[in-house]
Amino acid sequence: MAGPRAKSAHRSRSFAAACSLAAGALLLPLMVAAAPTAAAAPRCDSTEDCLAQMTLEEKAGQMTQVNHLNVMENKDAIAEYGIGSLLSGGGAGPGGEAGGTAEEWADMYDEYQRAALRSRLGIPLIYGVDAVHGHNNVVGATIFPHNIGLGATRDPGLVHRIQKITREEVLGTGIDWNFSPAVTVPRDDRWGRTYEGFGEVPQLVKRLGYASIQGLQGRDLGHETVAATAKHYVADGGTTWGTGDSGYRIDQGDARMSEKELRKIHLPPYRAAVRADAATVMASFSSWNGLKMHQHEYLVTDVLKGELGFEGVVVSDWGGVRQVEGDSYAEKVRKSINAGVDMIMVPDDYEQNIEAIVSEVRAGRISQERIDDAVRRILDLKFEMELFEKPFTDRSYTDDVGAPEHREVAREAVARSQVLLKNEGVLPLSADSGKDIVVGGKTADNLGYQMGGWSITWQGGSGDTTEGTTFWEALQEETEGTGTDVRFVGTDTGQDFSGDIGLWVGGETPYAEGFGDDGDLQLSRADTEQLNDICAKTDVCVAMLVSGRPMIIDEELKTADAFVASWLPGTEGAGMTDVLFGHEPFRGRLPVTWPSSVDQEPINRGDGQKPLFRMGYGLRN
Ligand code: GLC
Repeated sequence: MAGPRAKSAHRSRSFAAACSLAAGALLLPLMVAAAPTAAAAPRCDSTEDCLAQMTLEEKAGQMTQVNHLNVMENKDAIAEYGIGSLLSGGGAGPGGEAGGTAEEWADMYDEYQRAALRSRLGIPLIYGVDAVHGHNNVVGATIFPHNIGLGATRDPGLVHRIQKITREEVLGTGIDWNFSPAVTVPRDDRWGRTYEGFGEVPQLVKRLGYASIQGLQGRDLGHETVAATAKHYVADGGTTWGTGDSGYRIDQGDARMSEKELRKIHLPPYRAAVRADAATVMASFSSWNGLKMHQHEYLVTDVLKGELGFEGVVVSDWGGVRQVEGDSYAEKVRKSINAGVDMIMVPDDYEQNIEAIVSEVRAGRISQERIDDAVRRILDLKFEMELFEKPFTDRSYTDDVGAPEHREVAREAVARSQVLLKNEGVLPLSADSGKDIVVGGKTADNLGYQMGGWSITWQGGSGDTTEGTTFWEALQEETEGTGTDVRFVGTDTGQDFSGDIGLWVGGETPYAEGFGDDGDLQLSRADTEQLNDICAKTDVCVAMLVSGRPMIIDEELKTADAFVASWLPGTEGAGMTDVLFGHEPFRGRLPVTWPSSVDQEPINRGDGQKPLFRMGYGLRN
């Protein structure tokens, strides 16, 4: 276990970096000059050296994180304002378009980095993305099951392997900061971010969260690692239905609970994240008992930084500062910074952000010490990441984005995540049985639906938005040359057909964040009709539910002879057929309690309600 990162260790690592820099100072310009993308060299060589030279404006610039779309047409602003960080919001690829290849992302990153190195002190950028189930913005990247499916595996080792691959694919695009893992503890399945969590109890979340952070960061931060983000601090998954913000019904809402419950359910994953040496923590949009986390000094400074000893960077969420109470942006940003937020994900009006910080410091409403603490944390991180010495993409990783061996691990994770809820003698199937198979449902051949939200675009999409294998494509591969006849009816299940075995694949269409808040959790009428058609026209039928959370399936469960919770599998649909045909055993166990009625929400282990399936349920075959 990586111990907590003590400030002295921070300094020693930065100091060591500085010493090596000083020693190599004569060489550095040559090294930079020799770099494939020659650029100005940094003109400060340790955190304290940079701080001593920085103006207040430059310090405010370092605390400013901007969506790259806002400087794409004016990259000189990065140096002019000394902007410390860029990000790509979901879908903000090269040129402002969704998608883009790893090569195009790496070229984009390097161009922004060269712009940053032209600033007065040449302090490099740190660039963040949401690679929350693989490097999901990049076409051709390996897309893994979303966290709820990984929660069904209960396997920290697998999560560590997945995140090490994600690290490598992120590094292949130059990016050095991943706004992942969500160590949220989703308690109400109606929440649109339920699938971003590993499960409904802290014991599971903290184990997989720790493994996730270590997979991304390795034992020590450096050029071969990616800074992780434990998010969203804190109790983002404990909000009350109907209290949502930004027009959502529960997302960004109010977590109404005692401190005892907050500490028991929602804080443990952050204790684990600090033990895992998480480089950053992201503040939650949500509130605790009516006070926004972005202005919560007790929880951010006293608890996270004080009691838990977090020495890294607290970053705001996307425009989260603007949700803070206040009559002006300056008042809002002051409250956030004074509460302990170190970097502001503005993400657009960087001038306003910098001016506000400078004016509040000059007015004595933000102390110089607080600013220096924030900038020190940011610079320490950049030195630890070796960004000063090696600011550009290591292209040795770029060709491996989406590599077959990466996809094999994703396929294994898909198989391990499948939870068998019902099986009346149907599974496993055998391709050699000569039985005819009919496949239908809206998700059977739809890669976009199979991946869910945060896939190429923020909200996800439909169809072949990237490279992968749909369930239908996997089934054809499985049965090729076996004499088993497979027929695809898609959503047109009203047509005339019959068969020995019917396979239905349906569930939720993609969504992200509050857009997924859902007060019903019902299957669509079309889904139910297609499932009923397939089961009526075949001898036995199997239902595979592709969703980011439990849905109300009491009727459908009676209709199907076998029922599988497939979660949001990602690009490797063959993991689904691997368990259907017995190449892999069903081993998944529910990471959440499965309600029999939406009226039971929130429903969780130990709350005395009678669910359809308890957390931990899962049949073997
Ligand atoms: C979003 C999400 C957060 C994400 C950030 C950057 O609104 O709340 O999880 O990391 O913005 O995309």
